[in-house]
Amino acid sequence: MQDFLFSGWGAFWVTLFMLMPFAAMLAYIVYRKSVFDTGPGTTPVKTLSKMEGIWLTFVFVFFVGINLGSLKYMPYIAEARAATSGLPLQEIDVTAKSWGYEMSSRQVEAGRPVRFSGRSVDTQHGFAVYHPDGRMLFTMLLMDGLKQPTTVVHTFKEPGTYKVRCLEYCGIAHHVMLDELTVVKSN
Ligand code: CUA
Repeated sequence: MQDFLFSGWGAFWVTLFMLMPFAAMLAYIVYRKSVFDTGPGTTPVKTLSKMEGIWLTFVFVFFVGINLGSLKYMPYIAEARAATSGLPLQEIDVTAKSWGYEMSSRQVEAGRPVRFSGRSVDTQHGFAVYHPDGRMLFTMLLMDGLKQPTTVVHTFKEPGTYKVRCLEYCGIAHHVMLDELTVVKSN
């Protein structure tokens, strides 16, 4: 089920489903005003502005509140927090070159933030890390010719073997541009 939701059609149906209440409401209002209740409205202006106030408060609390409240779960914010948490970072330098990676290490500890600093020496490559269950955790776009490396800070939660895949088409052997990371229990 979850796999389906994350597919293209899954996203399409979820979006359509979320629009249904609005479509139903619109259809109801149009139907009512054109069949049953065709005259001008009788609701006093005072009630209307009160309802408007209630609606605006709801919109603000619900939509703005949820957005603000979920900010800290955004990958970039979570990363920035990990990077400034004071825990010593595990550093891995990644150099992408058609069609493989050089890495300063392929083993990290779970529960401690890792900073991946990536470069490409020839063309555009990707560096996507996958959880052993197949979920993609993050990806970096590595472009050649940049002065600074591209960095991502990630804290692995569980030990295991994590796959690395290039997600930028980079030539004839793009599909074999794979690697692995081993996440071990922290001491
Ligand atoms: Cu490197 Cu695709």
